[in-house]
Amino acid sequence: MINIPKGTKDVLPSQSYKWRFLEEAARETAQIFNIKEVRTPVFEHTELFSRGVGETTDVVNKEMYTFEDKGGRSITLKPEGTAGVARMFIENGLASTPMPLKAFYLTPCFRYERPQAGRLREFHQFGIEVFGSYAAETDAEIILAADTFLKKLGITSTKLEINSIGCPECRKKYNEALKKYFRPYLEEMCATCRTRFEKNPLRMLDCKEAACKKIAENAPSICDYLCGECAAHFEKVKEFLTSQGMKYTVNPRIVRGLDYYTRTVFEFVSTAIGAQGTVCGGGRYDNLLEELGGGKVPAVGFAAGLERLLLLMENTGVNIPDEKKPRIYIAGMDSESRKKAFAITAKLRGQGVNAECDLMERSVKAQFKYADKLGAEYVAVIGENELRSGTVNLKKMSDGTVVTVKSDEISTYLK
Ligand code: HAM
Repeated sequence: MINIPKGTKDVLPSQSYKWRFLEEAARETAQIFNIKEVRTPVFEHTELFSRGVGETTDVVNKEMYTFEDKGGRSITLKPEGTAGVARMFIENGLASTPMPLKAFYLTPCFRYERPQAGRLREFHQFGIEVFGSYAAETDAEIILAADTFLKKLGITSTKLEINSIGCPECRKKYNEALKKYFRPYLEEMCATCRTRFEKNPLRMLDCKEAACKKIAENAPSICDYLCGECAAHFEKVKEFLTSQGMKYTVNPRIVRGLDYYTRTVFEFVSTAIGAQGTVCGGGRYDNLLEELGGGKVPAVGFAAGLERLLLLMENTGVNIPDEKKPRIYIAGMDSESRKKAFAITAKLRGQGVNAECDLMERSVKAQFKYADKLGAEYVAVIGENELRSGTVNLKKMSDGTVVTVKSDEISTYLK
């Protein structure tokens, strides 16, 4: 017996309707915000992520599925969606199309993390990226799109937390302040944080080690180091959110786990799904495209983890509409009537009706039982009488009422 790899999940036939519900809500959200779908490869050149996501992040340092292909290239399964879409934007010269360019994706992602509730090695993201705009309205629109998506799913229990992590100028000063703060504690901190101290002190605020976390609690806040322009941008984002009645709290501790962010960062968090409470995260990344060899193209986006959303919906009793059931089951008594049942079923399907018949050579009684298990709305039994008369008795399973209709007029009756 070969088992499923650790940290991955099958979607069983009885569960797939939940995924369809999530994906349809994602597509509907994209549609009302006029956002077009994009698809990028599941694997990319490793350098895209090491340069894009950042060498000092856990994602790049510890969690990537990287391998050498048969041509000797270093390939990585995408750990997130943004870098691939940014590459696509640059490679296809999309900067010459009307701006802003709004794109969404539904994609599997891969991170070699320790699996736990809401944390998998293969998981799925719904993400939106908007390219070309520096305006604070865009940050607000992205947050409103994420909120619309959550509302479409029936999720009302998440809280929105926002922050600004400034531009490289603000960051320079802030990193100096962080170094000053962390220096006396370095001996007590993990090896990764000691490397981060040299390369990217901001990342030290994102460490998951308990000792480092504790030390980071009293670190200086980025809010005190924002330059005038970044502070003004953040104020505008907040104003737009408030004008739309969007509730949020400013959490100066949000730095996000990826290096490309500038200015606005945000997360929708829940307390109902354990330690991995962030169901959706994103922000502005005005320098990523330039770092990847594109022009100066500002951008902002988010991604939501579908598994976490599903877990949240299950844990908080959010109802997911049931799968559609067969409208009708056509049972057959003997070999002749079974042929007729098969033909009627085929005809109904041709007319767009969800119809079922027996494929297991069951007795009539067992066929009824199976139809009931399927949740069929009507059952019709074909026997000698029905063959002769060209009519069928449609039994409504919910109340037992029976009507007789011509066998070639069933679909009209079911309308
Ligand atoms: P992220 O915060 O790394 O951001 O991931 C986004 C979401 O993906 C998380 O909030 C979470 O719901 C889900 N997620 C992440 N890792 C796992 C995992 N191991 N298992 C299950 N779910 C997970 C990004 O990926 C950015 N690309 C978001 C973005 C788009 N920023 C700008 N544009």
